[in-house]
Amino acid sequence: MTVDPEQFRSAMARLPGGVGVVSTRWRDADHAATVSALMSVSLEPPIVLVSLHADSRIRDALDQVDGWAVSVLADDQAPTADWLASPGRPVIGQLARVPHHRAPESGAAWVDGAAAWLDCRTREIVPAGDHDLVLGDVVAVREGRSEAGGLVHLRRRVHPVR
Ligand SMILES: Cc1cc2nc3c(=O)[nH]c(=O)nc-3n(C[C@H](O)[C@H](O)[C@H](O)COP(=O)(O)O)c2cc1C
Repeated sequence: MTVDPEQFRSAMARLPGGVGVVSTRWRDADHAATVSALMSVSLEPPIVLVSLHADSRIRDALDQVDGWAVSVLADDQAPTADWLASPGRPVIGQLARVPHHRAPESGAAWVDGAAAWLDCRTREIVPAGDHDLVLGDVVAVREGRSEAGGLVHLRRRVHPVR
């Protein structure tokens, strides 16, 4: 029995997922992309996983550098999620309109105003079909404003939740 990819995509769109930005810095350029396939894997040691399309530019960059960062987006950051998911946006300058600061070890961008931030070092990359599962050791953690909510990706739209 074969599964229709569109039916699979549609079914999985019913699973609510949190939204973040994965970023890395390579050759003085900031790579960043919106992700919802993001999860905490282990507490001790702290490990996170992000699933990235094998052809994405951010995935390519992770072949060159070990360090990367995660910003867990807050409820008022849907425009940032949309921008960093838009196809064809230029790499150079893609963060010009996204206020950010630097993660301490990787130097990757942490989006200002996020609900939480992680700094990570790649532990392992596992190919999985058209995506690669990137497992990262978490080397630094910060939390944002206590009143910040989050974004939920559900039915192909991003919804703010408090
Ligand atoms: C809400 C949302 C969640 C997304 N989640 C993922 C994800 O988990 N993995 C992924 O590879 N792409 C995901 N995407 C698509 C990427 O953000 C988009 O393809 C991005 O442009 C890829 O980065 P690149 O431009 O560096 O290739 C998501 C898009 C949106 C709007």
